[in-house]
Amino acid sequence: MKIVVIGGSGLIGSKLVNKLREDGHEAVAASPNSGVNTLTGEGLAEALKGASVVVDVSNSPSWEDAAVMNFFETSTRNLLAAEAAAGVGHHVALSVVGTERLLESGYFRAKIAQENLIKASSIPYSIVRATQFYEFVKGIADLSTKDNEIHLPPALIQPMAADDVASAVGRIAVGPPVNGIVEVGGPEQFRLDELIRHGLASRKDPRKVVSDPQARYYGIKLTERELVPEKSASLGTIRFDEWLAKSA
Ligand SMILES: NC(=O)c1ccc[n+]([C@@H]2O[C@H](COP(=O)([O-])OP(=O)(O)OC[C@H]3O[C@@H](n4cnc5c(N)ncnc54)[C@H](OP(=O)(O)O)[C@@H]3O)[C@@H](O)[C@H]2O)c1
Repeated sequence: MKIVVIGGSGLIGSKLVNKLREDGHEAVAASPNSGVNTLTGEGLAEALKGASVVVDVSNSPSWEDAAVMNFFETSTRNLLAAEAAAGVGHHVALSVVGTERLLESGYFRAKIAQENLIKASSIPYSIVRATQFYEFVKGIADLSTKDNEIHLPPALIQPMAADDVASAVGRIAVGPPVNGIVEVGGPEQFRLDELIRHGLASRKDPRKVVSDPQARYYGIKLTERELVPEKSASLGTIRFDEWLAKSA
């Protein structure tokens, strides 16, 4: 089956392309690096020729409010129109668990806009909402560092390995469209401050992590369960300590 992976050069996309190829599919990595740009439409029609499924795991280069909204709206519109013209039968997109609870952030307002365009289109679809990736632990720490101290709220989080995300997206991409949202999460829950403290300690990063209920996460006020998936979510198997040991 020909499966086009938009954002196929990215963190999730590159893992997904490899997994699909291992399973015998014709997986095509499509992104500006390979001449396919969903913002301008360049190379899209050619890439989608003969494709049964399109998986969108692209991300906006800028997370500034207007730029990220423009990215997800324009690229999703262009992609869905090209899929309709090419007769693609399944659009799969990667989104984020809790998106509708995180709308204080322009990034998540753009992800909801992306989801709504997909729901309103005529293409059968599956939206996969994943929790935060382990790979972003250092990025969250860096973003929240002030005077060498990191303040984060003790909200619950159920992060997962990018490898498990790619496996889940791949499983859904080769199955029938669910025409709805599927949630995937990690095997364990943490407190956000505890997760970052543990991740930094394992890298011998000396920054102090302070549990601070008033601190913000990507500019968002969290209380308790905004970042955790529903009980029905399917869970990855790679534990944080296992991932830390492997990525050391
Ligand atoms: N971070 C999290 O914890 C988390 C959790 C759940 C879901 N997600 C979602 O996961 C998705 C993938 O994230 P990621 O971290 O794997 O992304 P990433 O590593 O930043 O990769 C982004 C990809 O998007 C491509 N891209 C950028 N502009 C494009 C354009 N105009 N046309 C086509 N492709 C374009 C890039 O291509 P080039 O390399 O060619 O520039 C790259 O392949 C995102 O949609 C994000 O919302 C993230």
